[in-house]
Amino acid sequence: MNDIVRIRGQKRLNGTISINGSKNSVVALIPASLLAKDVVTFTNVPHIEDVNSLLTTLSYLNVKTKFDGQTLTIDSSKISNKPLIGEEIKKVRASYYFMGALLALFNEVVIREPGGCSIGERPIDLHISGFEKMNVEVNYQDHIYTCKTPHLIGQTVVLKKVSVGATINLMIAMALADGVSIIENAAREPEIIDVANLINHMGGCVKGAGTSTIIVVGASKLRGCSYRVIPDRIETGTYAIIGAALGDEVFIENCNTNHCLALIYILKKIGVNLTVYDDVLIIKKSTNLTSINVETNPYPEFPTDLQQPLTTLLTQANGISIIKENIYAKRTAHVIELNKMGANIEVYDNNIIIKGPTLLKGCQVSGKDLRGGASLVLAALLAEGESYLHGFRHIKRGYDNIVNKLNKLGADISFIKKGDNDVAENNNG
Ligand code: EPZ
Repeated sequence: MNDIVRIRGQKRLNGTISINGSKNSVVALIPASLLAKDVVTFTNVPHIEDVNSLLTTLSYLNVKTKFDGQTLTIDSSKISNKPLIGEEIKKVRASYYFMGALLALFNEVVIREPGGCSIGERPIDLHISGFEKMNVEVNYQDHIYTCKTPHLIGQTVVLKKVSVGATINLMIAMALADGVSIIENAAREPEIIDVANLINHMGGCVKGAGTSTIIVVGASKLRGCSYRVIPDRIETGTYAIIGAALGDEVFIENCNTNHCLALIYILKKIGVNLTVYDDVLIIKKSTNLTSINVETNPYPEFPTDLQQPLTTLLTQANGISIIKENIYAKRTAHVIELNKMGANIEVYDNNIIIKGPTLLKGCQVSGKDLRGGASLVLAALLAEGESYLHGFRHIKRGYDNIVNKLNKLGADISFIKKGDNDVAENNNG
C-alpha cells in the first residue's frame, strides 16, 4: 500500500487550495447522527481514512450508508447494538463517540479502549466519570468497557479538565437523557458547536455550545435532517503554514478564518504576508521570518494540532523560538526526524526549543502520527534534494488528497511502492 512518498524539495508554491470538511467534526457528527434512528445527510464530508473506519463500524451496526462525492447519507433506522471490540475501533480514537450514542439509544454499550495517534497518554476517565454521573454503571476489563444503565438521567457534569472528546461524548448522551443536563468547564472548539447544531437540527435542544457552559434538554426522540460539515481549521492551518514557508502566492479557499485566529495572529507576528477574508486566506512570499514563543492551549488559543507543522516553519525563522506543548507533553516525535534533516531543535520537558534558520537536507524520515507526518511533509518540501517519507498512512487519516493538492501548487511529490527504489528499502525510521 502507498505508505512512502518521495518529495523533491525547494519548489515554490503558487495557486489555489480548497479546504475540505473538518475531520475532528465529522468523526463526531457521524456517531451523533445515530441518535435520530433515521436518515441524516451530510455534505462537505472529507475522504479520509478515519471516515472510512467509522463507516465500517456503522455497517457492522446494521446502519446503511452511501458516500457519493462529498455527500454522506446515513440511515440508522434499523440500527442494532453489538459489542464494538474489532480492529476498526482501535484505529480511530473518535470511536469513543459510539459510547454516548449507543448509551442514549440502547442504555448499553460494550466497546474496546479506542486507539488514535501516539502522542502521549490519552485516557478517557472524564468521559467515564460523566457517564457514571448520568446513572451508568461502567466496568473495565482487558481493555473493554461494559456500560449499562436502566435509563440515562440528565445531570450537571463539571469536567475537571477541558476535554473536546468528553464534552462531545456527554453532549451526545445527554441529547436523549431524562431531564436537563449541564456541562461545566466544557471545551469550546468549533467542532463542539457543529455537533450541537446537528443535534438541534435533529430536533434536540442544546444551548451554549462554544462557551464553557453547555445546557442540554433531553428529548424523547430525534429525527433525520441534512447538515453541512464545517471547514477543517487544522487542514487550513497546515496549508497556511506550508504557504508561509514556500508560497509566492497561495489562495486557501472554502475555509473559515474565524476558526483560525490564533494561528493567523502568530503568522502575522513572525512576518508572514497574509490577507484574511472570512472564507479565503491569501499568503504571499514571506521572507526574514522572526522567531516567537508560543503555547498550545484549548480553543480559542493556539491548537496543539498545529504545533508540529509550526515547529517545522520556525526552523526557518531568525532566532530562537519556544513552543510550550500544554496538551500532549509527548507530542514531539517529529523533532528527532526534523533534526535528522538538519534542524536544530531541543526538547526540555514540554518545551520545544527551535534555533533558526537552518538548512534542511532531504533524507529518509518516518511519520509517527497524523500531524507529525504533516510537519515532515513541510520539512521535505523545504529541504534541499529528495526525501522519502515513510508512514504516509498516518497522514491519510486526516488530510483529504494532500499529495494532489500540493502538486497542483507546484510541489513534486510521488508515491513510492516498497521495492520501487532501493533508497526506500533501507529506511530504519
Ligand atoms: C481532540 O482529541 C482531537 N481529536 C485532537 O486532535 C486534539 O489534539 C485534541 O482534541 C485537543 O484539542 C478529535 O477531535 C478526534 P481532549 P481528544 O479530550 O478529544 C486529557 C488530531 O490530530 N484527557 O481534548 O481526545 C488528554 O490526555 C487529533 O486531529 C484526560 O485526561 O482530546 C489531553 O491531555 C490529535 N481525560 C487533554 O485532556 C479524558 O477523559 C485534552 O484532550 C480526556 C482527555
